[in-house]
Amino acid sequence: MNNLDADAIRQNLGETAAARLGSLDVFAEIDSTNSYLLQQPAPGKIRVAATDNQTAGRGRHGRTWQSPAGTGLCLSVAYTFPSPPENLPALTLAIGLGVIEALKELNVTNVQLKWPNDLIAMDDKLGGILTESRGQPDGAVTVVSGIGLNIDLDDRLDDFPGMDEGRRAIDLKSQVADLPDWNRIAAGLVRGIGKAIVDYEAAGFAPFSRQWSEHDWLFGREVTIDTPQGEIKGKAAGIAEDGALLIDTLLGGRQQVTSGSVHVAGIGERGS
Ligand code: BTN
Repeated sequence: MNNLDADAIRQNLGETAAARLGSLDVFAEIDSTNSYLLQQPAPGKIRVAATDNQTAGRGRHGRTWQSPAGTGLCLSVAYTFPSPPENLPALTLAIGLGVIEALKELNVTNVQLKWPNDLIAMDDKLGGILTESRGQPDGAVTVVSGIGLNIDLDDRLDDFPGMDEGRRAIDLKSQVADLPDWNRIAAGLVRGIGKAIVDYEAAGFAPFSRQWSEHDWLFGREVTIDTPQGEIKGKAAGIAEDGALLIDTLLGGRQQVTSGSVHVAGIGERGS
């Protein structure tokens, strides 16, 4: 069992992240840390909610995110932008890179990103990010970005079949010799995500786009993408400066995709 605790997370934050932080709530059980933060008043600073026991977690495209007690960390961060950010979808990508930095600090260096929101280790799903937003009456926009990170699935991989179109689950415990304290992991995530939000607000996504290629799990893979405009088939070719996914299509030519579900044949997929 873990010992997730707000004071212990704060103690592990470091000065810069601590100064950025407004509130930090840890719950023994909650429906969804994203839903909780979306209901809170617009924070002046970064607001964080975390739990290891989420009963009605949500994923992208209306999917559920399963995280029974003790199996994973569910951590959401809220931040209010004074006006709508220019390219909000790319914030999820920037936050993914912030999570990669946090994991590197824990000596976990083999994690990659599957555009736009999945964390992948050994070709399986280690976690996912869901970003949601709420407009404020004064024109400000509160963005809530929540990560679900599998930490200790305890050989219960088959209990997590529906996490992402059949992609298998993997946990952090299997990727490290000694699993760090959960509060250290949570503090690292707050630091990494907080820095990503602040950097994105200052300079947009372009500076992040160069880092993406180092962690791009999709690059060179044959993909099928379900987009609102229909299905696209081709080979993933990185991302554009604004975070759009680049696809060299089977029909010839390069297409930019800004929203969709990406399927990769073969690797890590269950069944047909
Ligand atoms: C996905 O892979 O589709 C995204 C999953 C995001 C899950 C996290 S857990 C913390 C936060 N609260 C939620 O209800 N969802 C996100």
